[in-house]
Amino acid sequence: MKSTPSKFGKTPHQPSLWTRADALKVHADDPTTTQPLVSANFPVLSDEVFIWDTMPLRDIDGNITSVDGWSVIFTLTADRHPNDPQYLDQNGNYDVIRDWNDRHGRAKMYYWFSRTGKDWKLGGRVMAEGVSPTVREWAGTPILLNEQGEVDLYYTAVTPGATIVKVRGRVVTTEHGVSLVGFEKVKPLFEADGKMYQTEAQNAFWGFRDPWPFRDPKDGKLYMLFEGNVAGERGSHKVGKAEIGDVPPGYEDVGNSRFQTACVGIAVARDEDGDDWEMLPPLLTAVGVNDQTERPHFVFQDGKYYLFTISHTFTYADGVTGPDGVYGFVADSLFGPYVPLNGSGLVLGNPSSQPFQTYSHCVMPNGLVTSFIDSVPTDDTGTQIRIGGTEAPTVGIKIKGQQTFVVAEYDYGYIPPMLDVTLK
Ligand code: FRU
Repeated sequence: MKSTPSKFGKTPHQPSLWTRADALKVHADDPTTTQPLVSANFPVLSDEVFIWDTMPLRDIDGNITSVDGWSVIFTLTADRHPNDPQYLDQNGNYDVIRDWNDRHGRAKMYYWFSRTGKDWKLGGRVMAEGVSPTVREWAGTPILLNEQGEVDLYYTAVTPGATIVKVRGRVVTTEHGVSLVGFEKVKPLFEADGKMYQTEAQNAFWGFRDPWPFRDPKDGKLYMLFEGNVAGERGSHKVGKAEIGDVPPGYEDVGNSRFQTACVGIAVARDEDGDDWEMLPPLLTAVGVNDQTERPHFVFQDGKYYLFTISHTFTYADGVTGPDGVYGFVADSLFGPYVPLNGSGLVLGNPSSQPFQTYSHCVMPNGLVTSFIDSVPTDDTGTQIRIGGTEAPTVGIKIKGQQTFVVAEYDYGYIPPMLDVTLK
């Protein structure tokens, strides 16, 4: 990376804190912030592949965009192995749970297209084998750049390491479908620096991924959100008064919560093309609260910045908890201060009776929230489950000031375009 001096000179902001006191307000099963139950009879997109993180094609301002009337989504994807001896259990039956749990190690970027914003048809792999420099192609964002159909796919190149990268290609349409061409040269952008963002050397369980570039509607500059952890050796972080917040008597004990150090990172582009980036201090930190704030993204509404990020029950720190789902924060300006939505941050969580039914929610500017089905219980005790690996029903939420409300449910994988671009 070039050593051009910072555009900002001095650090422009202090990270906002998601505190333990905020997280104590998280309540599972509040109907206004809980995803409706997903039936175990869900349809699957494909018997050949699992899909999970879904990345709708959009423009740099965040609008979900179709091209020549075709909607396009990108998904993290892995082959299903029903006949592979490696995935048979002792009785010779397909161990789909193990296959599903192993998927992250072989994640590849695929794309799908549709005329209706649902009923997705498989387009194929975005990059040919060997194009991406690492084993895993992890989440990111496809951006439609212009009416020539050029697309910048920002994603995370993982194992070895974790690098935010981009690859440029083009979307081509016919009457019958969509193909993606190009996507042949992957450009590394940046990695964790160890000063603001934790590196693998500092913590083997570090997170540095999920780029989400955008243009700030107020200052017009190009920025990028990403998932990180706060820099420092694992175990060295302090959970002090600021991280604890205003808790009732008896809630001062933070246990081992110093190991949970998630943050939402931000970088600013030094050029118009988004080829040269400078990392800035995190927008939001969750030290002592949670270890993962994944796939951060914005909705710009009513002149406000609505910052959303997904997180898990298992990544919460000692003494605080919440459902798997999407959490949100709001500010009047890009660099904050951010306040948790609904007091706690929780926007849409899984019901406690089906704690793993969905994940990787993406809140779109039209208030629709897409996610994938992870696993749904098939009996009352929850011991039998059906693995998803497919699109969940889309949920509609209403965002009002510092509050959000679940207001609608739509079809599986319903991701309608907000605008259509006619290609030249
Ligand atoms: C979210 C996520 C992302 C990551 C991907 C890996 O579901 O953990 O943060 O890029 O899945 O499979």
